[in-house]
Amino acid sequence: METNIYGNIQGLKSSQIKKLQQLYEQRQPSYSLTTPEFASTLAAISAEIHQPVCCYINRRGQLIRVGVGTPIQTQIPPQELPRHSTERLSGIRCIATQFKSEPPDEAALITMVRQRLDALVVLTLVGGEGGRRGKQTNGDIKEAFLAHIVPNPEKPWEISPPLSLDDLTEQDDDLVDEWEREISSSASGMPFQDTVSDSDKVLLVGLKTDDISQQRFEDGLQELARLVETVGGSVLETVQQKRSRPHPQTVVGEGKVEEISLLAYKLGANLIVFDRDITPSQARNLENEIGIRVVDRTEVILDIFAQRAQSQAGKLQVELAQMEYMLPRLRGQGREMSRLGGGIGTRGPGETKLETERRTIQQRISQLQQEVNQLQAHRARIRQQRQQQEIPAIALVGYTNAGKSTLLNVLTNAEVYTADQLFATLDPTTRKLVITDPETKERRTIVLTDTVGFIHELPPPLVDAFRATLEEVTEATALLHVVDLSHPAWESHIASVEEVLAEMPGVETRNLSQRVAGVPPVVASGVASLHIAFNKVDQVDSETLALAQQKYPEAVFISATQRLGLDTLRQRLLQLIDEPIASRDAKIEPALHPGFPP
Ligand code: GTP
Repeated sequence: METNIYGNIQGLKSSQIKKLQQLYEQRQPSYSLTTPEFASTLAAISAEIHQPVCCYINRRGQLIRVGVGTPIQTQIPPQELPRHSTERLSGIRCIATQFKSEPPDEAALITMVRQRLDALVVLTLVGGEGGRRGKQTNGDIKEAFLAHIVPNPEKPWEISPPLSLDDLTEQDDDLVDEWEREISSSASGMPFQDTVSDSDKVLLVGLKTDDISQQRFEDGLQELARLVETVGGSVLETVQQKRSRPHPQTVVGEGKVEEISLLAYKLGANLIVFDRDITPSQARNLENEIGIRVVDRTEVILDIFAQRAQSQAGKLQVELAQMEYMLPRLRGQGREMSRLGGGIGTRGPGETKLETERRTIQQRISQLQQEVNQLQAHRARIRQQRQQQEIPAIALVGYTNAGKSTLLNVLTNAEVYTADQLFATLDPTTRKLVITDPETKERRTIVLTDTVGFIHELPPPLVDAFRATLEEVTEATALLHVVDLSHPAWESHIASVEEVLAEMPGVETRNLSQRVAGVPPVVASGVASLHIAFNKVDQVDSETLALAQQKYPEAVFISATQRLGLDTLRQRLLQLIDEPIASRDAKIEPALHPGFPP
């Protein structure tokens, strides 16, 4: 059911949702924090659903948000808070119910500070003490606590002693003006100055399960940190857990969720990024418990794609991938709305559409799919023309950041965007390269194509959506695999690229894993062989160089930026395009390389 009630509404009856919705219609007086009538209505509905309820009210007395859950679980995402007010309070107060007869806990107070709330009013309910769901309470209010922000960086809040309902409703809201003046005139400045910023402050969460090695786990986390930074986020800290397998509801264990939650609030993180794909319901459970947006690796990668997509084809593909990814994750308005605005997981051509209904999105998906198919057909025709002209094509493939675009640039003087960031290239860029044959002095033309960088375990929806990009690979005469030899994980990079190539739809792979000594593996019969160029040798020690030479005697060693080894590479490219396919096939049989099991 579409609803404007935030937080955990699962399991609520529609009559209860209706009651919660009716809260929106209640106007608060602007002269006091709340009224006895409103407090009682709130307490009654909270008792009925056995859950805390929070109402957010602006200074004109309008209810702007009703949420089921604690102040953390129902908080207003930073991008939805009034922008102008980083210097002032947000002009919003929160009235919350609570079943424990005690002052608001630290997490609720930190949330208050992060949102720069005018005040946090906590109403404790009679009879509910010690219990939450299921415990009976008659909905009578036992006492109230009034908390507000103070300009003390050490402990930026003050809590009133327990107040009766009458005491509470007699507090007039001139108080808020007073508090605000106190904060803005204080020498120590705003306690919340740094809590809202344009870039995401990220807490990474890594889960080491039995099926991955420690090395792979650590490499994966490092890569994720770079991915997050690529997209403009800053990683505050990384939390790790070892489990035999992911927790079905919350990925990590219960205690870990609590630890993450507390750490996130202490550090002021506004985004949690998991190092693995999480299901829509896991994301929902985690968000409910932690109260901060939770995204996974795929979402971060999608975001990078969204930032980088330049061409019409690239943009279409990104939008398609985003839509397909988001569809099962859409739920009540709360989550959709919280995706609007800036930040990781919210960018890109798809974002404005996310608030529209599922059906509209579904329609958009089929439309996009059609457009992508048309573009693919168009590109296939262009490729065909190229083949008819018999211009051989070589595709540069490789792990992201290996230096493919740089190499394309120095070889062809083309202007392709390069940056020391992951995924600098999204759209394949094709350039003509003219090489003079040293023996015949004949000038030969090759078409060189840059492709999007690979990563470990490219998420399947992305492989599908980007197949038009990766398609170039299957059409090439040969593939030049550019490897960043200065990267400590270069060997596992080679393995992941080969893995992804092997999974490409329509590519028939042979001998990728069973490498033959001195023989380049054939990717698909009659299609392309894979050759390695080790790049960035200017930053490699002699041991690594020797190891790579020994393991890959056929490889070329280059430095694109220092222009080392480029002549050898050019000659190698000529050999590649001249190598008849039949002779490549014929060479497949010899003894296997000792380093590779049969
Ligand atoms: P994606 O687009 O992410 O797939 O990356 P890419 O493989 O196209 O890498 P790109 O060409 O953008 O280069 C990535 C970074 O590596 C840039 O900062 C380059 O300057 C740097 N780089 C490229 N070649 C070399 C090299 O030979 N030596 C050194 N030291 N750095 C290099």
